[in-house]
Amino acid sequence: MTANPFEFDVETSSPHETFELGAALGGALAGGMTVALIGPLGAGKTQLVKGIAFGNAVGDVRAVTSPTFTLLNEYPGRLTLYHLDAYRLPGSRALLGLGFDELARPDSAVVIEWADRVPDIIPTDAVVIEISPTGPHQRSLRFRSTEAVSGQWLEAFRAARPV
Ligand SMILES: Nc1ncnc2c1ncn2[C@@H]1O[C@H](COP(=O)(O)OP(=O)(O)OP(=O)(O)O)[C@@H](O)[C@H]1O
Ligand SMILES: [Mg+2]
Repeated sequence: MTANPFEFDVETSSPHETFELGAALGGALAGGMTVALIGPLGAGKTQLVKGIAFGNAVGDVRAVTSPTFTLLNEYPGRLTLYHLDAYRLPGSRALLGLGFDELARPDSAVVIEWADRVPDIIPTDAVVIEISPTGPHQRSLRFRSTEAVSGQWLEAFRAARPV
């Protein structure tokens, strides 16, 4: 097996397109999944999470904001969605103190912004999405997995997407 069983890129040309991509992701999320988001300030991580929440049937996506100070937001929906932000963290201990390890359950999923700041606690089966600004309204989103199970999930997700 290769180190990266699956990887693909999606380009978006507006915040709305990123929201729609997130909504597709949120509709497909399986219980127990962790989605690790990487990308610079203003890349569109929270915009993607708004879409994920919408797709997961979270009632009011206006409540979806970067949990920069609260560290952890919880949105009830089809799955309980936990939204974390590691931007201001000196390390992973604060997240472990919040019970990070127990957040991903059969009836929940976890999305974490700035996942590259806490690499030691990101599960190896996480779906990683790296967002790179490529223009004022353009973003390139690289989806990747490092394990077979999440790789299969990603492959199915891409196959189900309209081109
Ligand atoms: N294609 C696009 N996809 C997503 N956001 C876009 C796009 N084009 C422009 N934007 C703008 O980029 C900004 C993204 O903000 P957002 O809060 O989602 O970033 P972030 O990665 O969460 O930043 P932070 O690290 O500060 O939390 C918004 O102002 C949004 O309108
Ligand atoms: Mg954010």
